[in-house]
Amino acid sequence: MQAVRTANTVVALLHLFLLLAPSKTKATESSTMSLPGCPDNCSGIPIPYPFGLSPNCSLSDAFEVSCNTTNYSGTSTSTPYWHERQVLDISLSLGELRVTAPISYQCYNTTTKTNDYIEWSWNLSGSAFVFNYEKNKFVVIGCDTLAYVQYSVNLNQSNYYWGACGSWCYGLQTLTNGSTCSGIGCSQTVIPKGINYFYVSIVEQYNNSEIYNFSRCGYAMVMEPDNFTFNTRYITTDALERENLPLVIDWFIDNTTCNSTWANESSYACKSKNSECVDSISGLGYFCNCSRGYQGNPYLEGGCQDINECVSQQPCSQPGKCYNTQGGYRCSCPFGWQQKEKDTCEPNLAVILGTCASIIPLLFLVFGVYVILERRKLSKVMKKYFDQYGGWILLEKIKSSQGFGFTIYTKQQVEQATNNFDSASILGQGGHGTVYKGSLSGQTVAIKKCKMIDENKKKEFGKEMLILSQINHKNIVKLLGCCLEVEVPMLVYEFIPNGTLLDYINNKRPGSHISLATRLRIAQESAEALAYLHSSASPPILHGDVKSTNILSDKNYMAKVSDFGASTLAPTDESEMATLVQGTCGYLDPEYLQSCKLSDKSDVYSFGVVILELLTSKPVIDFGAPEEEIGLSSRFLIAMEEKKINELLDDEIKCEDHMEVIMEVAELAKECLNMKGAERPTMKEVAEELERICKIMQHPWREDQYHPEELETLLSGASHVMEIEQTSSFSLEKQAGKSIAVGR
Ligand SMILES: *[C@@H]1O[C@H](CO)[C@@H](O)[C@H](O)[C@H]1NC(C)=O
Ligand SMILES: *[C@@H]1O[C@H](CO)[C@@H](O)[C@H](O)[C@H]1NC(C)=O
Ligand SMILES: *[C@@H]1O[C@H](CO)[C@@H](O)[C@H](O)[C@H]1NC(C)=O
Ligand SMILES: *[C@@H]1O[C@H](CO)[C@@H](O)[C@H](O)[C@H]1NC(C)=O
Ligand SMILES: *[C@@H]1O[C@H](CO)[C@@H](O)[C@H](O)[C@H]1NC(C)=O
Ligand SMILES: *[C@@H]1O[C@H](CO)[C@@H](O)[C@H](O)[C@H]1NC(C)=O
Ligand SMILES: *[C@@H]1O[C@H](CO)[C@@H](O)[C@H](O)[C@H]1NC(C)=O
Ligand SMILES: *[C@@H]1O[C@H](CO)[C@@H](O)[C@H](O)[C@H]1NC(C)=O
Ligand SMILES: *[C@@H]1O[C@H](CO)[C@@H](O)[C@H](O)[C@H]1NC(C)=O
Ligand SMILES: *[C@@H]1O[C@H](CO)[C@@H](O)[C@H](O)[C@H]1NC(C)=O
Ligand SMILES: *[C@@H]1O[C@H](CO)[C@@H](O)[C@H](O)[C@H]1NC(C)=O
Ligand SMILES: *[C@@H]1O[C@H](CO)[C@@H](O)[C@H](O)[C@H]1NC(C)=O
Repeated sequence: MQAVRTANTVVALLHLFLLLAPSKTKATESSTMSLPGCPDNCSGIPIPYPFGLSPNCSLSDAFEVSCNTTNYSGTSTSTPYWHERQVLDISLSLGELRVTAPISYQCYNTTTKTNDYIEWSWNLSGSAFVFNYEKNKFVVIGCDTLAYVQYSVNLNQSNYYWGACGSWCYGLQTLTNGSTCSGIGCSQTVIPKGINYFYVSIVEQYNNSEIYNFSRCGYAMVMEPDNFTFNTRYITTDALERENLPLVIDWFIDNTTCNSTWANESSYACKSKNSECVDSISGLGYFCNCSRGYQGNPYLEGGCQDINECVSQQPCSQPGKCYNTQGGYRCSCPFGWQQKEKDTCEPNLAVILGTCASIIPLLFLVFGVYVILERRKLSKVMKKYFDQYGGWILLEKIKSSQGFGFTIYTKQQVEQATNNFDSASILGQGGHGTVYKGSLSGQTVAIKKCKMIDENKKKEFGKEMLILSQINHKNIVKLLGCCLEVEVPMLVYEFIPNGTLLDYINNKRPGSHISLATRLRIAQESAEALAYLHSSASPPILHGDVKSTNILSDKNYMAKVSDFGASTLAPTDESEMATLVQGTCGYLDPEYLQSCKLSDKSDVYSFGVVILELLTSKPVIDFGAPEEEIGLSSRFLIAMEEKKINELLDDEIKCEDHMEVIMEVAELAKECLNMKGAERPTMKEVAEELERICKIMQHPWREDQYHPEELETLLSGASHVMEIEQTSSFSLEKQAGKSIAVGR
């Protein structure tokens, strides 16, 4: 596509160049049509040589035209006459002379009861002039008129022709103005070829004496009727007598025919170069024409001038360029086009393809070099990032510990997996960045594209990845790998299909009713995951953004803590204190907000809020509430103070009626939400406490395992516990062995 367009551009440029090239055509000199010093017109009517207005200006007497001046009432007008007929038009190229036709007529004189009678003959014998048999007709006009015409060549008595034509009509009704000579009121008939004599006579018996009340006259003539328009006036009056109707005469030179052997003689009339001789139709003479491509007067020396067809005809169709030549023109096609006919150009596929064939490889080469350079530049950038994030160290470590399950993905792989970060594959968007769903080597993954990274952390990134990659806990979303070749590294997690804890709490899933037991299990599993991060990982890992949306649910509804990669590693010395406040409103540890120091107890605080969410199914922040109760945690603490916790609880678990268990969980949450971080329990303790509470839900009869005060609480709720026993006896058997070791 690109290549073809370029080829077109080249063609267009060449075309433009050709257009700009200076034209070599010269303006044609205006050629005179008469001999030098002779007038070429009479009252504006051109009189070209061989015709002339005086004997010295015409070829011979036969061609002399007189320009007579008539003096009508003070105004003098000149009119050209030839053989005493007014000249209307002389055509050199056709060899035609138009003069006014002599009109024969017969008019009935109503006063004298006689006919006014005029009849004409025309004798052109002895000259080469003949009456044009194609354009002239014998025409009769009238309503009671019959006329004869006698023709001859050179008045040869033994060679007369006769013709007759009549016209009759009864009344004016049938006659219309504007028609040509169509047969009603006007009839016409053809004349023979090559005649130079005619005589027109009107038959006196048809003399309008019977129709004189509407028509007095009848007319007959040899004329050219093509441009004749009939008018009823010609019938009712004698107006036609004064009309200038044309008669066409073919004129010829001399009385011989074209003969190449005398072409050099002085009598030869075709004097101009580039002229040619044309035989007369009658065989009595010849006339001259300019050769094709020339125009002017062939009877004058230098009379035939080249026609600049490029100007007068513009014969070359686009994009051809016209060049005038002597006697012709040349259409030149621009590069990439070829002459189809003389005047048209068509695209020359061979040339275009040839050009393309030579240009395309060049373009490919250029493109290829460009791609290689670009790629080199790109890979340089990617390498820089890779270096910057400690990718080499990470890669080395991964290689040294085989079966590690952690992959460093290339930028290309990640782009492919997310369909170039298509917005359709976005799973979620948060303060940290955007999470895309993707597919990497057949496995569905979640790819987190962080918005930014702390400058100070860049070098540590590879190391952090190494630590995070080693985390392997059933309740933690597995980090599968990362991509370092980009400005901000991307993290690749396993994909957890069943949504977040928040979805369940908010009943976003239709028909989802979560029992207290399930809620406790989720809480306990999440707590264990966090405890694992805090204590089992080395060095300890702080989550930094514990919240219900970061607790996912797999297809078995098992809790999975996610997004730990975006949190920081536990700071080992004071200088590594976070400069950036992380976390989510409503979950933020008030102590962390003040000190900007993220600790494991900050996660405990946030987890306390998650427990509240599980208990109340209420939003963490409710802007509709009174000022001191905007945050769920403060609202909860106030309710605890006023012993009105019941009002806050989710109706779904309230009706389950495990108030004692709920109160224990609430107490735990209260501890987690302690303003002083030091007084909060550790995540491990929280997890253990939750596990214990879960056990109470499941095994109420194992009271001996528990402390007396807890036993009391259990006994007070015994009736409810019995119900649970019946409904969940199957799971009790399974879990029995395990629970023995558990206790505070
Ligand atoms: C007619 O002839 C006169 C004198 O020869 C000349 O001045 C004039 O330009 C001519 N007119 C035309 C239309 O050729
Ligand atoms: C015609 O030409 C001749 C000589 O060439 C000259 O004597 C004569 O006066 C000319 N006649 C006219 C009418 O110009
Ligand atoms: C035309 O006629 C008027 C008088 O009617 C006369 O004065 C004039 O000289 C005439 N012109 C010519 C050229 O004969
Ligand atoms: C025109 O003038 C010439 C003389 O110059 C004369 O012989 C001829 O009869 C005139 N023709 C007409 C129609 O007046
Ligand atoms: C009829 O003829 C007479 C005598 O020739 C003439 O005076 C008269 O004008 C003519 N009438 C018509 C209408 O031509
Ligand atoms: C016709 O014209 C020729 C040549 O001009 C002449 O010889 C002949 O007598 C003419 N005939 C008639 C009947 O006028
Ligand atoms: C007259 O016409 C006849 C028949 O076409 C021909 O034989 C004869 O030679 C002609 N006469 C002349 C003088 O042209
Ligand atoms: C034809 O035109 C003439 C005027 O040119 C007019 O007097 C006459 O009545 C018209 N005839 C018809 C049939 O319209
Ligand atoms: C006119 O024609 C009639 C017959 O249609 C005829 O009787 C009469 O003599 C003719 N008149 C003339 C002057 O020819
Ligand atoms: C007929 O009249 C038109 C317009 O006036 C003109 O262009 C054309 O040449 C005429 N045709 C002939 C055969 O005279
Ligand atoms: C042709 O013209 C010449 C003189 O120019 C003359 O002698 C000859 O008789 C003519 N021929 C005919 C057939 O008219
Ligand atoms: C041409 O003219 C020559 C001499 O005048 C003559 O001998 C010859 O027959 C002519 N040719 C033709 C085709 O008329």
